[in-house]
Amino acid sequence: MQKWGPKEPRLSLRLTRRRFVQSLLGTGAVAGLPAAFLSGCSGSSRASTVAAAVSPREFTLPSKVTFPKGFFWGTATAAYQIEGAWNEDGKGESIWDRFAHTPGKIHNGETGDVACDSYHRWKEDIALMRAMNLNSYRFSISWPRIQPLGSGTANSKGVDYYSRLVDALLEAHIRPLVTIYHWDLPQALEDAGGWPNRDTAARYVDYVQVVAQALGDRVTDWMLFNEPSAFVDLGYLEGTHAPGRKSLLDFLRATHVVNLAQGDGFRALKAARPAARVGSVFNMSSCEPATNSEEDRLAAERAHAIINVWFLDPALRGRYPEALTFLPETAMGIKSGDMEKTRAPLDFIGINLYYRTIASATPTMERAAHAQEWLFPVKMDGGREGPKTDFGWEVWPKALYDMVMRITRDYNRPVIEITENGCSYKDGPDAKGVIHDARRIAYHREYLAALGRSINDGADVRGYHAWSLMDNFEWADGFDQRFGLAYVDFKTQKRTIKDSGHWYGRVAAENRVGSA
Ligand code: FCB
Repeated sequence: MQKWGPKEPRLSLRLTRRRFVQSLLGTGAVAGLPAAFLSGCSGSSRASTVAAAVSPREFTLPSKVTFPKGFFWGTATAAYQIEGAWNEDGKGESIWDRFAHTPGKIHNGETGDVACDSYHRWKEDIALMRAMNLNSYRFSISWPRIQPLGSGTANSKGVDYYSRLVDALLEAHIRPLVTIYHWDLPQALEDAGGWPNRDTAARYVDYVQVVAQALGDRVTDWMLFNEPSAFVDLGYLEGTHAPGRKSLLDFLRATHVVNLAQGDGFRALKAARPAARVGSVFNMSSCEPATNSEEDRLAAERAHAIINVWFLDPALRGRYPEALTFLPETAMGIKSGDMEKTRAPLDFIGINLYYRTIASATPTMERAAHAQEWLFPVKMDGGREGPKTDFGWEVWPKALYDMVMRITRDYNRPVIEITENGCSYKDGPDAKGVIHDARRIAYHREYLAALGRSINDGADVRGYHAWSLMDNFEWADGFDQRFGLAYVDFKTQKRTIKDSGHWYGRVAAENRVGSA
């Protein structure tokens, strides 16, 4: 996940990517690498019904949008961020348990030990969704709840938890949209090498088979990974997320192993449940050139390749996109035949989008002076024109329109689900216990209007999931950032639907977004 903002503790992937190339060169790690230049990320087949790109001046938000019949209105959560019960009923330790229990890693020393206690209060959470008229719920399965040590037979109590949840959702006419991996690797697998270890891909495939077996009679819609570039980057290179490693080679290797796991996991799930719809979720950010110069436009293309499609092109095109001036194949551990294995003809593309990226070319003098700037000659930043959320992220609805249209044009109008979009604002209850979060309503209204415009312009978008159902544990930021449509009092675990949640409930019921 790329996180922007001056006080933002999570480092940005965009900066990270540049830094990883810098460190690559700095450590001399490139010496033994083949200087094979990547082939272009082209082959875009533009659907004839899809509108061409829209310039900022031409961009207006429709005041009213009616969404297609059967549109999925949902919210998203992740196991570690809401479940708590970190060591109950046979659950194994995850890398997030270990990381959060390590002093100094999380804001205020907070942990997900209890979080929203959803492991016990899931019925209340389904009641919230019902009150909001939702018909889709994106949640994740905790791998160490199912396989405490990351391999072997399933822990029946863990399976029972998700089984009950799925049954209750179906009963409430809410589609279970299941993320198989949302960052909580069993610690035992990290001890055995973690994602940089090729064997982890094989363990992941076993785990996919176990969950497909346990839940696939009722769950039809699955996502293999949540934001691979975020967890690989922040966990293995930056060290600001679990497991907290800071190693360039681990990062490069993990990148490739996750791509292999994505391809192999796709085939395993399809083999176990041929009728399943299988996608994966990518963190995306529309990349705009800082100026209209040819150099900046090229820089924006490189930024797009590295931010948005580094884990999508191996799946859909069987190759890494053109982002760097060469691919460090040896360091990444790419073996002959691997790029066939990474292929996965995803049934849908999950897009998590929060903000845009501004890219510019590194000035010629700097490129000449530093080999690394020559290799990845791109500078990236967040936008500065829109208002900021309390997390410091720019509010820029056009980013969602642009990203959805870009993916629609470049990948021949694929099925898209917006799997996350949302904002952190710290509004709390007033004297009457009511949470007036007008800025969140404005945020979702505008992003939904932008999404509606992309659908009108030819995109095949099937659903929208607000991040998040309720305030929860925001990774390294602990409980400081509140993204929920429902407020959670973490002392009492009381949930209260915010004004935005009531508003969203009306949108879902009417299947349309109106003007303010
Ligand atoms: C995304 C994560 C999600 C949440 C939101 C705010 O990167 O997928 O778990 O933290 O950011």
